[in-house]
Amino acid sequence: MVTEKKSTVTYRKWDRGAMREFSEEVTIVRMDNDKITYAMGITQEGYLLHCYYGARIGDDDISYLMRLPDHPFTPNGNNRDRLIFMDSRAFEFSCPGTGDYREPCLMVMDEDGMSTCDLRVTGFTVKKGKPALKQKGVSCIPATFASANEAETLTVTLEDSHLSLVVELTYTMFAKLPVITRSARAINKSYSDIRIQRLLSGCVEWDRSDFDFITLNGSWARERAVAREPLHFGKQSVESRRGISSHQHNPFAALVSHDASEEVGEAYGFNLVYSGNFLAQAEVATSGFTRFVMGINPFDFSWLLRPEEDLTAPEMVIVYSDCGIGAMSRTFHDLYRGHLIRGQWRDRMRPVLINNWEGTYFDFDEEKIYQIAKAASEKGIEMLVLDDGWFGKRNYDDCSLGDWVVNENKLHGGLKPLVERINALGMKFGLWFEPEMVSPDSDLYRAHPDWAIQIIGRDMTQAREQYVLDYSNPEVREHVYGMIRAILDSANVEYIKWDMNRALSEVGSTALPRKRQRELWHRYVLGVYELQDRLTTDYPYLLLENCSSGGARFDAGMLYFSPQIWTSDDTDAIERLKIQYGTSICYPASTMGAHVSDCPNHAIGRTTPFATRGDVALMGTFGYELDVTRISEEDRCAIPGQIEKFKKYNPIISAGDQYRLGNLFEDDSYDAWMFVAKDRSEAVFTFVQVLNKPSTPSRRILLRGLDPDRDYRNEDTGEIRSGKTWMKGGVIVGAFGDFVSRTMHFKAV
Ligand code: DGJ
Repeated sequence: MVTEKKSTVTYRKWDRGAMREFSEEVTIVRMDNDKITYAMGITQEGYLLHCYYGARIGDDDISYLMRLPDHPFTPNGNNRDRLIFMDSRAFEFSCPGTGDYREPCLMVMDEDGMSTCDLRVTGFTVKKGKPALKQKGVSCIPATFASANEAETLTVTLEDSHLSLVVELTYTMFAKLPVITRSARAINKSYSDIRIQRLLSGCVEWDRSDFDFITLNGSWARERAVAREPLHFGKQSVESRRGISSHQHNPFAALVSHDASEEVGEAYGFNLVYSGNFLAQAEVATSGFTRFVMGINPFDFSWLLRPEEDLTAPEMVIVYSDCGIGAMSRTFHDLYRGHLIRGQWRDRMRPVLINNWEGTYFDFDEEKIYQIAKAASEKGIEMLVLDDGWFGKRNYDDCSLGDWVVNENKLHGGLKPLVERINALGMKFGLWFEPEMVSPDSDLYRAHPDWAIQIIGRDMTQAREQYVLDYSNPEVREHVYGMIRAILDSANVEYIKWDMNRALSEVGSTALPRKRQRELWHRYVLGVYELQDRLTTDYPYLLLENCSSGGARFDAGMLYFSPQIWTSDDTDAIERLKIQYGTSICYPASTMGAHVSDCPNHAIGRTTPFATRGDVALMGTFGYELDVTRISEEDRCAIPGQIEKFKKYNPIISAGDQYRLGNLFEDDSYDAWMFVAKDRSEAVFTFVQVLNKPSTPSRRILLRGLDPDRDYRNEDTGEIRSGKTWMKGGVIVGAFGDFVSRTMHFKAV
């Protein structure tokens, strides 16, 4: 897949009053699979320039795409105008100080206070497969993985010889997917300290700017709303400065052609495998060319690199599609299901759970929980998840985080007897933790006030009456893990919901030296990764679900440890349509925690039919979040039917191809989607009527992804039609009233 070709670029230019001939020896290094080509060129002087990225092109000499002759001033032939060359070339890893005034990927501060950087290629290597990302002293950096026959990895080594700073850029191309992953690693080869002020994961350049910029934005209970706007001159960006990837912006962005829809047009999708501060930015220069950069947010970032130390940037995933945004999403889904998510639960149907949060909040004891479990098990629910409030003296959200010992005033006799009774019902048991937090009113804080993130002498800002633990401190991690382990070893806990309910503030550590304080943002994230890695390694059977005030940390970094993430605290079926739509732009349905909850909905006050809540939750991991003993008999009796649907359709939904057929961001009257099995033998289609419009008695929706030449039976109506007809003629769905849904099953005959 990786090939190298040397070539000579010759051209004639006016120079100092005469027409002169210039020539430049270049090396083109390209990565190709059946679908895409990613190519870069190394100039005679060692600059690494971007050459091409997009649909697979021919094996011809593509050195002309470096556009070297474009400008009268090329350094090789005319050194007196190098600045103009630097500011207009497409760099694979942009640096400041020598004439490129656009966004840099790397910023340093050397011991003399200088920040200029000039990276030149010193060599490259190619390896089969995909080596793990590494950094000295860091046990686990989440990233996609691939075996020797699934991918090939190119590592280009660059060096700033003045600083003796080496930067390794890694590029992996997957054999069967239109995906490139990138990362960067800086290594200090000098005898002095170098401060890294930013190390982004990479940049991609285009000699055009006719794109729309798509981002996923929101707030608590309104995560990942899709925004789309045309690129304009200057910069457009999303970022997080909160220490978590955030509700506000997801570490995702796409550049799509103006005509791109679900089915047609070009789309370049970018996602960072990272759970902390990030930056995703597109910049259109006055040349009309575009640079896109992504990585750890340089805001408030600074990392001291002592001699021989290294720093590795998180992985940036880049997906290309020339068949629209839908195909881009399906590639992300395939990549994450096959090459990011790990563990025993990845490809297994998840147990249908009932979580007591919205059912009881903090008001429970062991008998109430047991009664919920009992009633749930009678209806076929397979796991009881005990949410917040089981530990310390926590009866409200104002205390005890950090005291991970069972509150025996609520759970008399501890966890074990309760779990045994629940297991005796044939149900699994799962438990909620918020391991990164400490309440001011907790034994942990009283014993170790210095373990919270803080700046000594400053007031500490509370959120939900809690502080964040300093996960850069191994002692803190060890202590918290000891408490979690004691609980896990005390009873048969088979699932953990790992919550995280506030952003970071007064970001300082009592454990880090002065010179390393600004490393805390990133060290915190690495600490979380280390603990989740330990947890999932020591308890490989555990089903881990990440969560952060709903979906504030729904990112690819978390997916490396947990196959599912709680999508949002907004469990209203109609709000969920938008939230799940936005989430599906990048993340597969198998990862979306989705529950049927009680009505009126606790987040929004809306009442929707129980059946619709079920159909919407089917698009995720599926479960219940209510007190099953207190809902109506009619709803309770509907549960077995919903579970039956889940068992029947989940293999298609969790492993198949998703097609978004409606878009509430553009038309608020309905939503529809479908999942098609990989072998195209069956499909599940769901339609939700959101606003009933009197003059629209029925709607015709075109199915997608079926085999045009096979016949499919609509199992619900018995109609048999060819895939071609279902896809071009569509299915007619009636208007049944507001918030009513219908799910249909299509089977090849
Ligand atoms: C926030 C989560 O998103 C909820 O599901 C719930 O677990 C609460 N925290 C508990 O405090």
